Amino acid sequence: MKKIFVANFKMNKTNPEVLDYIQELNNHLLESLSSDVCLCLPYTSLCLGKFLDERIAVGAQNMHEEDFGPFTGEISADMLCCLGVKYVIIGHSERRKYFNETNEKINKKIKTALRHGLKVVLCVGETKVQRNSKRTTEILSQQIESALSGIFENELKGIIIAYEPVWAIGTGKVASSEDIEEAVKTIRKLISSHYSKQAAQDQKILYGGSLTSGTAKSILKIDGICGALVGGASLDPNEFIKIIS
Ligand code: PGA
Repeated sequence: MKKIFVANFKMNKTNPEVLDYIQELNNHLLESLSSDVCLCLPYTSLCLGKFLDERIAVGAQNMHEEDFGPFTGEISADMLCCLGVKYVIIGHSERRKYFNETNEKINKKIKTALRHGLKVVLCVGETKVQRNSKRTTEILSQQIESALSGIFENELKGIIIAYEPVWAIGTGKVASSEDIEEAVKTIRKLISSHYSKQAAQDQKILYGGSLTSGTAKSILKIDGICGALVGGASLDPNEFIKIIS
């Protein structure tokens, strides 16, 4: 399976800073790049995606579930598509936590994104408290079952699932290989029972949470992991290049 690397800039970098980053990334990208790469920029920088090397896609970090209307401050799927956006992160734990995004809302957003031809990076993962109380499988099941409710098997090719344990995001703590492998198995089991064995096998699953160039190699070797969602470490273009290469 082709590897995929998604950078999540979160609320970082002004447009001049993004332009510098793009220049650096374009100049140092491997000629033999064999992975899919996507930069999820802040909304205000999406228009700069046109300056990226054509092998790099541009992504958004969120979108609204409705097509248009009186939703002050929100951004629609159409608006993203018009800017050449190809991917959208949905259900990031920061959106769940700080913006009260429910599983139901996430399901609506996924349906809207797919209807507009956007590839979805669906984030799932347990908190430390949930892990300590042995609820990881239950939480992953809840998040995935509701996110994918009403989604048909042929639509799964438009969805990448990122396993991001909440306690590993931005903390410098990386989940252990065993924990990641276990989560990947749980996710595939869920896909298999709701869809088919083939769908489970084909499902793209990424890891996210404090991944750096130092830990990328061992994480990417984990059975079933086909890439990474990178936050903090993606903000330095050279570090992100190291991760993808
Ligand atoms: P991090 O963020 O790599 O800084 O932990 C990952 C993410 O939130 O997607």
